[in-house]
Amino acid sequence: MRSFEPAERPQVEVFRTLLSGVAPRPIALVATHDEHGAPNLSPFSFFNAFGSNPPVVVFSPSYRGRDGSSKDTFRNILATGECTISAVTFAIVEQISLASSEYDSGVNEFVKSGLTPLPSRNVAPPGVAESPFVLECKLLQHIDTGGKPGAGNLMICEVVRFHVSESAYDENDKIDPQRLDLVARMGYNFYCRASGDAVFELPKPTWNGIGIDNLPDYIRNSRYLTGNHLGMLAGVADVPDQKTEFTESLDGKPQDHEIELRVGDPLRALSAFWPRRDEYSIQRQQQILHRIAALFLEQRRIDEAWQTLLLDG
Ligand SMILES: Cc1cc2nc3c(=O)[nH]c(=O)nc-3n(C[C@H](O)[C@H](O)[C@H](O)COP(=O)(O)O)c2cc1C
Repeated sequence: MRSFEPAERPQVEVFRTLLSGVAPRPIALVATHDEHGAPNLSPFSFFNAFGSNPPVVVFSPSYRGRDGSSKDTFRNILATGECTISAVTFAIVEQISLASSEYDSGVNEFVKSGLTPLPSRNVAPPGVAESPFVLECKLLQHIDTGGKPGAGNLMICEVVRFHVSESAYDENDKIDPQRLDLVARMGYNFYCRASGDAVFELPKPTWNGIGIDNLPDYIRNSRYLTGNHLGMLAGVADVPDQKTEFTESLDGKPQDHEIELRVGDPLRALSAFWPRRDEYSIQRQQQILHRIAALFLEQRRIDEAWQTLLLDG
């Protein structure tokens, strides 16, 4: 491990290290007005939501690392108490990157980036029409975290209106990440795209699982099961009983369990292996059963994984 205190390293290294590990971060595309009503638009990835009643979001326009100067967004929101925050999708990532350029105060980044103002109803600054998710916000509180170059300004804002595009919803009226196609910021110049295979569902635990400490030793210490596999097995409410009907269904019809493992069919792999298990050493039997169980788990077939592992018990 490289282990250090922030004071031991140059500020730029602290910045890069922090942003590489606190990632991916959602990006707030923040629109503000100055005290004369001139618009400003800039992205901020020191951003998140911190409660939903009332809905509160926080973003941080930092003091510039270079010279400690403050950003237009910061000065505008302090002056007016209002902003909008538009979510950033893959379709507009190049345009928001352009909007992050250090244009002089008074330059309208809506015009520079070619993004379209979406009229607001509760605050003066507009949202971004190309974004499927826009928040109208009022400043609740500002916290300065140091006043030095690189220090942050927590702009704690209450969301006073949501705008969500119809096209973000699926047929069950749920906001669908695949339809949103958001991007997030990581360290250095990396971004990531929150759609396609990058998005996966993990059901919430509905009861207290037995815990990894209560897994039988031969499962907990298996060389073939990862921490994620053990996490799934340990999520059951009780260690299941062995079901005789499970083994009765294993008819030995497929010939080769290795082929079935390779094509990703754990049940057929088990069916091929189990009636022929005596052809293998005890150690090899255990290896094959655990690999089959791992494949069941990768398909979230937790009952079948347990039944497979209980054959080794
Ligand atoms: C994706 C992205 C995320 C950014 N996040 C932040 C941030 O969280 N805080 C910050 O101070 N600057 C951040 N920046 C840089 C600002 O957008 C940039 O300094 C901008 O010029 C500020 O504009 P303003 O002076 O008009 O407010 C980010 C830039 C990009 C491209």
